[in-house]
Amino acid sequence: MISRRQFIKYLSYSFIVTKLNPVLADNKKIIKYNIIAKKSKFSFYKNFYANLLLYNNLNPGPQLNANVGDILKIEFTNNLDEPTSIHWHGIKNINKMDGVPYLTQDPIQPGETFSYEFPVNHSGTYWYHAHFESWQQVARGLYGPLIIKDKIDDNFDDDIVILADDWRLNKNYQIDEKSFGSLRDWSHAGRIGNWFTINGEKSPEYKISKNGLTRLRFINASNARVLKFRSSLNNNKIIAVDGMIVKPFREETFTVGPGQRIDLLVDTVDISKVDYFEISNKNPLKAFSLNVKKTNTKNKKSTKINFSPNYNLPKLNKAKTINIHMQGGAMGNLTKAKIDGVEKDFRSLAMEDKKLWAFNKEIGNYEKLLTSVKKNDVVILNVWNDTRWPHSMHLHGHHFFVNSKEFTNYNNYLLRDTYLIQPNEKSKLIFLADNPGKWLFHCHMLEHAASGMVNYIKVT
Ligand code: C2O
Ligand code: CU
Repeated sequence: MISRRQFIKYLSYSFIVTKLNPVLADNKKIIKYNIIAKKSKFSFYKNFYANLLLYNNLNPGPQLNANVGDILKIEFTNNLDEPTSIHWHGIKNINKMDGVPYLTQDPIQPGETFSYEFPVNHSGTYWYHAHFESWQQVARGLYGPLIIKDKIDDNFDDDIVILADDWRLNKNYQIDEKSFGSLRDWSHAGRIGNWFTINGEKSPEYKISKNGLTRLRFINASNARVLKFRSSLNNNKIIAVDGMIVKPFREETFTVGPGQRIDLLVDTVDISKVDYFEISNKNPLKAFSLNVKKTNTKNKKSTKINFSPNYNLPKLNKAKTINIHMQGGAMGNLTKAKIDGVEKDFRSLAMEDKKLWAFNKEIGNYEKLLTSVKKNDVVILNVWNDTRWPHSMHLHGHHFFVNSKEFTNYNNYLLRDTYLIQPNEKSKLIFLADNPGKWLFHCHMLEHAASGMVNYIKVT
């Protein structure tokens, strides 16, 4: 007889991605996965093996796939030495499956198993990641792509996830442990790295089909770096943001803030190679390339694809406005703020509590309520970034409409779950609060969230 512990050990060695057979229930297909978080070795460079925390020993974690309307069932085992939880970023989830420790579930303790089960009712590019001390667990590799497909995906000959991360490694190509918790990082732009990967690799190359259409799904899993891309095409056709189809538009360069996703469509007629560069740094990095090589098996180029978004801005006449005045950080104007009801000056907050950011002059955490709204209220988050830093603001459980200022050739409402708001920008994030529960609203620069830039909104 094999013990549970041995069984789990056996699983983690023998299965790379353990996708079990789909089962039908209530006409919904249940897609099952097993995920195990554990310490793993990974080589970023030659024979140097970094100690990472990975899902199923993979960097990035296994790609989870489902079709719109399916139920995802993930048997998750925590084989780490510390508690953890998984958040399904961008999924309009059932609240108790949202993976926020203390708020929606107890932290999953070492050795424990937790079964996540939820329907996926929207197609698109999503990702999952640890939400317990995510500033260190995500930095060590606990994340993976989550792709929900729809009919529209039948049109593409190739579909490639471009999961980007910005690691901070030391000279031995190990995770730079010493700088975890650096007050300088936390009060400035967050933990900015020095080793850039696409799907765990440096400048990988992907083969795609001739005379075809490729869907590229960019995901920024960095702790804090705002990524900026350009390609040798000089003209990138954006077809989705944060999972949501948009009326296609073209950009020469585009940014992807931490947590955000951008999908591109690449038409390979008359193209033999495309190079993509990450240009947020002074020195552009070759991110990855596409090699147009494969013979197109479908052997016919898809004609018209209907990219019309199927959502509308809700009526605003009865909307409930919530003001969020964001302050703090280095060179900011936050002189004092309340922490657990006690007012303190900025210096003491930084030195004693390691808290640096506030909404409405209050330091936040996972269990700090911003406000309660009623189910089906239209809510306007009236956000003012009164700091010297951009912030990648993420709302759980809902997508919001935002008149995005992130692009050059698109100035209309976008439906996003994460919005990159610039210093001094005032933006309205508008959503129909139709999903009951407790939903975090936080900065996805994970150091900023850890030092105060997080609250939750209750929908009852
Ligand atoms: Cu992707 Cu609360 O986070
Ligand atoms: Cu931030």
